[in-house]
Amino acid sequence: FLPIRCVKGECDVIGIIGAMRIEVEALKAKLTNATTTTISGVDYHQGQLNGVDVVLAVSGVGKVFAAIAAQTMVLHFHVSKIINSGVAGTLSSQLHIGDVAISNALVQHDMDTSCVGDPVGLISGINIVELPADESLYTAVADVAQSLGFNHQIGTVATGDQFVGNRERKDWITKTFNAIACEMEAGSIAQVCYVNQIPFVTIRVISDEASGDVHIDYMEFVKLAADRSMAITEALLPKIA
Ligand code: ADE
Repeated sequence: FLPIRCVKGECDVIGIIGAMRIEVEALKAKLTNATTTTISGVDYHQGQLNGVDVVLAVSGVGKVFAAIAAQTMVLHFHVSKIINSGVAGTLSSQLHIGDVAISNALVQHDMDTSCVGDPVGLISGINIVELPADESLYTAVADVAQSLGFNHQIGTVATGDQFVGNRERKDWITKTFNAIACEMEAGSIAQVCYVNQIPFVTIRVISDEASGDVHIDYMEFVKLAADRSMAITEALLPKIA
């Protein structure tokens, strides 16, 4: 049968965004009844995954590409929730390579209007630093991570257009935002979801220490981390649909 063409409110389509192909490819291969629509250069793959209607996209790296994909999922595909799955650098002593960071809040560590008196990280207009993640989503992710036997931590995930790879920057982000992991997209997807009132969570498996030999760790562990995040996402779907 053909995939259902959902109109807002008539069915439950879950949007899944990964920044890089390696963060989405294995899920895409498991889609049934798949169709692809290309918008603004990004392929959106609709179909069913683990019995749930989804739309999957590889957004591209960084906040702008991620926001484009999230807003397209809202306006064109009428998603009811968005999950961002991928990899991250650790900012937490409790999270090591292969462990799972789960957002209960998101910050944009490179947003800074502090020289005109604002708190660092304040997003002007909506006037908040911490963008919320959806509690029922992050609780469900934690349950799935637990049941799959993965060490995990729930906390603030810090986003910026920057691959964090030195001790000074890592420590500043950790201390300023009390964050547990750093990456480059989730905070912008969270902002799109916030203004559209769409529940959101990011699942980020640690690929590196965000300092020291970051490129060596990253190259070695990015696939393991991306695969683990996709396994959690897949198992999560029937629990949240
Ligand atoms: N994604 C994976 N590791 C990262 C890091 N150290 N900084 C930013 N994004 C990342």
